Amino acid sequence: MFNIPRHVAIIMDGNGRWAKQRFMPRLAGHRAGMEAARQVVKNCAKRQIKVLSLFAFSSENWRRPAQEVSHLMDLFLTGLEREAQMLHENNVQLRFIGDRSRLSEKLLKKISDVEALTKPNAGLVLIIAVDYGGQWDITQAVQKLARAVEDGALRSADITADSIAAHLSFADLPDPDLFIRTSGELRMSNFMLWQLAYAELFFTDVLWPDFSEKELDLALAHYAKRERRYGHSSEQLSENSC
Ligand code: IPE
Ligand code: IPE
Ligand code: MG
Repeated sequence: MFNIPRHVAIIMDGNGRWAKQRFMPRLAGHRAGMEAARQVVKNCAKRQIKVLSLFAFSSENWRRPAQEVSHLMDLFLTGLEREAQMLHENNVQLRFIGDRSRLSEKLLKKISDVEALTKPNAGLVLIIAVDYGGQWDITQAVQKLARAVEDGALRSADITADSIAAHLSFADLPDPDLFIRTSGELRMSNFMLWQLAYAELFFTDVLWPDFSEKELDLALAHYAKRERRYGHSSEQLSENSC
């Protein structure tokens, strides 16, 4: 397939409803969601996608019942313990984005170990967004710039879209080309608000635990057919490609 996106960003939604349909507890849905995440990592790597971002826990997900939050945190920890070596052997570079201040010591330690282990890897860059919010990301970038202004190192007039972008999480990576959200919800839920400015959007009714290789290929096929204009007219683009 030609025209493969460099960066795919996914809101993995619908674990709860998947479990409910089966009269199972929500945790069972999150477990099944973890397996779907494992598969999508493998399938993106196979298709030579460079960066995959997975939204695993939002800044707002702390509002869920304490028991569900703690189950999710346990799942992240055990998932990392179980999968780190396999990801490393498959040349995956793992990175976490989000506000780390509310995560447990144990999870933080595991995250930094796995990031250090996989840092030299040149294969797929896998970004896991935990306690992440697009508004948080923009706020922390602006705070860094404000500090530089306070220190006299920067003038406020020199703050540009590029300088804000340079201080966002994963500023060294390309912005998402393709955004996918499962479970039929048509919203961004505070995911990468800035970085998604020009992403192509793909929504599917499939619940996350059922997101299969076939569904990924459907999203990729839709992406391949779209014309990305970035403000230009369609005619300009066809003139340039001749
Ligand atoms: C997504 O599934 C996983 C997380 C937000 C952690 P949900 O848990 O939001 O599933 P639904 O939306 O209740 O079905
Ligand atoms: C967004 O899903 C966050 C993740 C998938 C991690 P939610 O299910 O929490 O989003 P809302 O609350 O329905 O918008
Ligand atoms: Mg949801």
